[in-house]
Amino acid sequence: MNGSPPHILRDSFGRIVNNLRISVTDRCNFRCRYCMPEEGMVWMNKRELLTFEEIARLVSLFATLGVNGYFLAEQAKVLVRAGLNRINVSMDSLNPQTFSTMVRRDYLHKVWEGLDAVEKLPIRPIKVNVVLIRGINDHEIEEFARLVRTKPFVVRFIEFMPIGSDDGWSMEKVVPTREIIERINAMGDSKLVPVEYHGDQPADRYTFDDGAGEIGFISSVSEPFCSSCNRVRITSDGKLRTCLFSLHETDLKSMLRGGVNDDEIKQTIIDAVWKKEEGHLINRPGFVRPERTMSQIGG
Ligand code: 5AD
Repeated sequence: MNGSPPHILRDSFGRIVNNLRISVTDRCNFRCRYCMPEEGMVWMNKRELLTFEEIARLVSLFATLGVNGYFLAEQAKVLVRAGLNRINVSMDSLNPQTFSTMVRRDYLHKVWEGLDAVEKLPIRPIKVNVVLIRGINDHEIEEFARLVRTKPFVVRFIEFMPIGSDDGWSMEKVVPTREIIERINAMGDSKLVPVEYHGDQPADRYTFDDGAGEIGFISSVSEPFCSSCNRVRITSDGKLRTCLFSLHETDLKSMLRGGVNDDEIKQTIIDAVWKKEEGHLINRPGFVRPERTMSQIGG
């Protein structure tokens, strides 16, 4: 319990939490090596997943939404008609072979179909998430930089984090933001200039000095932004997580299914957010890798 008004979610470090991410499924068409193991993911029983009504009820106590790329081409129009006005697509390589190595599925063409479809629709920004793993796809930095100059996509380089499958994460495999910026600037074309640096969102946004194209950097490992983190997440099976790297979850689903009233659920949320972790401990003593993969947490 804390003395803050119930309509604002605060934590004990003075942060206001106003950004909720909800995972709607734990299944995924891809097997990204930084997220899932190659085999052996066990899907949750449908009964364990939050139902549409349960999500709607939680959303009415909270807010927001998110999506997944494989069927995007088929679903883009419906999603836009339903009110989706921005989108994140994961595309870790522009080369079919490297793409397959990264996500263990030969689906680059499907992701492109989706991107081609959304490009024609009134939905912006179109963000393209790129997780770089040194030695696998980091040779494509320049090609991604060229992509944003000709397409209406905002590329977001996300530093490889030790969460999800234990596919040999080490500091050496993380390509730090500073290195990516240096490489892009060395292309001798146009230079990157910051447009929003350490702002409200996790990404530091840069544009090119001739104005054509935007790139964002999510430097979770080399420059953590925990002190301005405003996010909490609900897993597809209804657990509230106050940090990507939380080792503790709050079970909202059993409250929804146990006939608990709204006020009590709200109070549980307020109390859980108050205990939001100060920050993650990646690359520091005491770091413990959470068992959840991003596919279960919902990005
Ligand atoms: N490190 C960095 N980013 C990750 N994602 C998933 N797992 C990891 C990881 N271990 C990102 C992917 C995906 C988004 C939801 O989360 O870019 O698109």
